[in-house]
Amino acid sequence: MSETVTIAGGGHALVLELPPRGMPRIVAFGAAAEGATPSAERAMRTNGMDVAVPSAVLLPTGGMGYFGWPAIAGHRQGRDFVADFASWSAKGDATRHTFSGIDKVAKLALDIEITVSSGGVFSMRSVLTNQGATIYTVDRCMAASLLIDAGEGELTSFTGIWGREMHTVRSPLGTGLWLQESRRGRTSHDKFPGVLLTVGGTTSALHLGWSGNHVIAIDLLDDGRRLVHAGELFEPGEMRLAPGGGSYESPWAHFTAAPGALPAFVRAEVLRWPGHAMKPRPVLLNTWEGTYFDHKLDQLKAQATAAAALGIERFVLDDGWFGRRDNDRSSLGDWFVDKRKYPEGLAPLVNHVVKLGMEFGIWVEPEMISQDSDLYRAHPDWALQIEGRPLLPSRQQLVLDLTRKDVTDYLYDRMHDLLSSNRISYVKWDMNRDITHSGDSDGSAATARQTRAVYALMDRLHAAHPSVEIESCASGGGRNDYAVLRRTHRLWTSDCTDALERLEIQRGTATFFPREIMGSHISASPNHQTHRRHSLSFRALVAIAYHMGVELNPLTLSEPERAELKGWIALHQRLRALFHAPEGQFQLPPIDGRYIWGTVARDRMVAVVAQGPHMLAEQPPPLRLPAGNATAGTWRIVGQHPAQPEYIRISEGQKRLLSGGATFSLQTLTHAGLPLPMLRPESGVLLEFERVTTGA
Ligand code: GLA
Repeated sequence: MSETVTIAGGGHALVLELPPRGMPRIVAFGAAAEGATPSAERAMRTNGMDVAVPSAVLLPTGGMGYFGWPAIAGHRQGRDFVADFASWSAKGDATRHTFSGIDKVAKLALDIEITVSSGGVFSMRSVLTNQGATIYTVDRCMAASLLIDAGEGELTSFTGIWGREMHTVRSPLGTGLWLQESRRGRTSHDKFPGVLLTVGGTTSALHLGWSGNHVIAIDLLDDGRRLVHAGELFEPGEMRLAPGGGSYESPWAHFTAAPGALPAFVRAEVLRWPGHAMKPRPVLLNTWEGTYFDHKLDQLKAQATAAAALGIERFVLDDGWFGRRDNDRSSLGDWFVDKRKYPEGLAPLVNHVVKLGMEFGIWVEPEMISQDSDLYRAHPDWALQIEGRPLLPSRQQLVLDLTRKDVTDYLYDRMHDLLSSNRISYVKWDMNRDITHSGDSDGSAATARQTRAVYALMDRLHAAHPSVEIESCASGGGRNDYAVLRRTHRLWTSDCTDALERLEIQRGTATFFPREIMGSHISASPNHQTHRRHSLSFRALVAIAYHMGVELNPLTLSEPERAELKGWIALHQRLRALFHAPEGQFQLPPIDGRYIWGTVARDRMVAVVAQGPHMLAEQPPPLRLPAGNATAGTWRIVGQHPAQPEYIRISEGQKRLLSGGATFSLQTLTHAGLPLPMLRPESGVLLEFERVTTGA
């Protein structure tokens, strides 16, 4: 008799059947799955195997009649190339289960852990243990498998490059194997480990929380359904399990048939805030684009003073404060304050910032080493390298071998000293290159261990400095995933601060991440990356709903610009609780270059409408907002920012509506929609709505 187990949460369920032999079968998954029972009869293929070999299973293995893409594979010096688990047991409760199976022939044990959140997001990982007397080499061991219905469908994946992360790419789901492999040693700018799959009106999402090499495979099964697998990617021989109990723990993968629940899942289950709760996100000034490497104490103090006057709450000193770091060719690894720039250390600047009522934050890039550094001159062997192969700099830097204890101890000591000797509340932890030639001292591939070592270093520092918030940055959004977010509190969404480019970057990122942890900065015009010019209002509108910051030298602003920027910061501070509310956040699919996002609460709403490129249509479609938990009744617009948006043509009726002179029902707002005027390209408007009376 096989056992059926249901894991359910948030109205979604995963029903599994544990067979006498083979992998756990996926009986049903999704919103209507609860109560599903396995069918007694299994279809057999004409002229096929004489035993039914189910294909809709978790983590299928190959070689025993399953002809699809195996999710687990490995060997012992070429033997035991087949894994076949049996004797399954299950323990757990309705929302959390561990399934354990044994392969007595290959001498392997497999544990599969699955949990579900109250919002219907499932998390799964695998643990493979070598019970044999010889080394077992794992070629792959995926974290999770997600079952998708048969039928035509669409795949949404997220790609980009430096400065253009998380672009949404939609393509038809094909009949072959779809494989996304990332070998950059970090989450990557080009292959985000997350996909959406839409078949028959249902969209499911899968994300691998991992900051190293990774793979996502979408495999078509014999019966037209699809399995989507996600897990870590190993170089040859990278993952070898020691005899007698050596084991591999996969990252966690997260999947759901309610993708809208993902940001809330991150908020509730992934993020770990100092003090156990998120405080209002401080508006920050980041010195990078306004100062680069040209650190001058008096200038920086003056910038801090100007920032405080603008209402800024956190001052982040970016790259350039350590070693002899006058450009990006030197000093990584020399984590000592540059006495030429800061003769008395950082204290005079930190004290100045703190006295102004702001927090002080600092940039570091611990995993890296410049060849032009005292550290490299003393320890050239500390860089990741492969004997006999050339060192391959990228952004003129090498990667430290964090699999070595002496290296991580050094980094811990430097970071610990930095954080202990200064009142630092915030660290921007950068990682500015892909990992190549990642060999350890034994000459074997080290990316998997390197990734774990970075996490361990972050965890160790967090344990010593639990109140310090960390921002995850990797040349912008190159390390944005749920595993790094267990130890960090903000994502640097992209190095591109151009508001037009940000529309698409932020939309893609917000599919998986809550907006309150996505860094979005108002920078100079013309923009440093694209040289485009944008009004301050457009730059501010694009940043205002996220974790807002300013990345320019405030001393270069004119008086009117300063006053305007101050106004936008104050508006953000007034509305941030609403923009960052745990419930009611929305973003609509863009239509004709028009992006809309905001929050719906019971009696208030806020929406940003931003026009990217010029529209093709003559008029935008009526503005329809989701109802969320809004109370029925009469509503009106109570705020429009900027006061005079760049509308192309506006009627008297529209003027009345936008100035609050006309009311409308909730039903109108959420169904028929409001007739907004067309906006000029690269401009926007923020609208505030309030309920006036209750009733239908
Ligand atoms: C990376 C980051 C930037 C900045 C620079 C400093 O590119 O993404 O924000 O910190 O490094 O060198």
